[in-house]
Amino acid sequence: MKLELTHTNSFIGKESIQSYESTIASTYNTIYNKTGAGNDFLGWVNLPSEIDENFIADIEKTAYELRKKSEIFVVVGIGGSYLGARAVIEALQNHFASLTNEKPLIVYAGHNMSEDYLSELLAILEKKDYSMAVISKSGTTTEPAIAFRILKQHIIKKYGETEAASRIVAITDKAKGALKQLANVKGYKTYIVPDDVGGRFSVLTPVGLLPIAMAGIDIRALVKGAVEMEKACKNNPTLNGNIVSEYAVVRHLLYKAGKTNEIMVNYEPRLVYFSEWWKQLYGESHGKDHKGIFPASVTFSTDLHSMGQYIQDGLRNLFETVISVENSNHELRIPLENEDLDQLNYIAGKRISEVNHKAELGTMLAHVDGGVPVIRIVIPEVSAFVLGQLIYFFEMGCALSGYMLEVNPFDQPGVEAYKKNMFALLGKKGYEAQTEALNKRLGGDKR
Ligand code: PA5
Repeated sequence: MKLELTHTNSFIGKESIQSYESTIASTYNTIYNKTGAGNDFLGWVNLPSEIDENFIADIEKTAYELRKKSEIFVVVGIGGSYLGARAVIEALQNHFASLTNEKPLIVYAGHNMSEDYLSELLAILEKKDYSMAVISKSGTTTEPAIAFRILKQHIIKKYGETEAASRIVAITDKAKGALKQLANVKGYKTYIVPDDVGGRFSVLTPVGLLPIAMAGIDIRALVKGAVEMEKACKNNPTLNGNIVSEYAVVRHLLYKAGKTNEIMVNYEPRLVYFSEWWKQLYGESHGKDHKGIFPASVTFSTDLHSMGQYIQDGLRNLFETVISVENSNHELRIPLENEDLDQLNYIAGKRISEVNHKAELGTMLAHVDGGVPVIRIVIPEVSAFVLGQLIYFFEMGCALSGYMLEVNPFDQPGVEAYKKNMFALLGKKGYEAQTEALNKRLGGDKR
């Protein structure tokens, strides 16, 4: 894995990357010595290398048992309790997984409150054998709680209490929260989310590893990749020769130069959910005190035909971070045609990936010319090992960037605002004072 910064240099202000040498060294100290804000949520720092054989074997065993009897596996969770798993699963499974006969198909619930979504899911589950994981660190989040209540009733009706209980795994806090109480009463297999690992940093805990193992993905390789990146940081907690530090410094300098929006770019649609995971990680960690880079994402070349115009010519507050994949998993060449009616013979014989790569290079230069700096992260392929490296790369990059921005990267106080209003509007006990004021502001919307 390589980081290329050639196309950012001319956009960075007077300060040089090198002037951040001591800042980076002291920020690593803050992280490793746990002296910064949110220091009780640094469990992810040593997590990969602390994962032991018994734990992995237990996850694999649970997945093996459930895979035998599941055509569908439902992952019930939201935010950090589902995005990491989905990022890895969608990156490594067949693009058309829902049309192959490979079992189980992983589907998601509890990440929205759409009546249509849940109704249509129930209709499918009616006809399929399934099992599920309900994942919520707090055990009290409304979206997954509603979905789980509905799915729980369905699975019990379908299989009876005992068999249903054997098809449900709860992943939650060791003691707190309604989900933990429920799991205890019902006797579900339970995995614990460590206290010191926040939701968006939890993909390498059972939160991510069980669903990923259910998809038949090699969780050992994933963890191995993360361990490698963890060690690379630990062995060289400096700026020089450490790509995580370089990424954190360059995005910080670009931000200071007015580039307040970072667009994660991929040229492989299998990485769409990796960008979603990254957006949550960076958005929720840094968007505080009226500060922080706004994380966005695009898939090229698809979005070159939609968002490409804005990126090339719109407001100049953007920079791109491109995940550049060197090798495809398949080989497919453009065929030669004698008639050449579509005039594509000039690229006949070339692999699609070569054309895609040229599109990537051409786009990068066009965007740089248009005033958009480009950071490139070059990975050899999309594999479990490389995804493990990338996960840790972005987690550590997030912590370094957050501390440089002088925010607590590990809390999310802003998330409460919508919840309070929603609870008040739903008439939850304890929110009476707000209900009337909110209804007044909403005027006639009584829906
Ligand atoms: O990163 C976070 O902490 C959040 O995004 C949570 O993951 C999300 O709100 C879901 O929380 P919980 O796992 O408690 O249901």
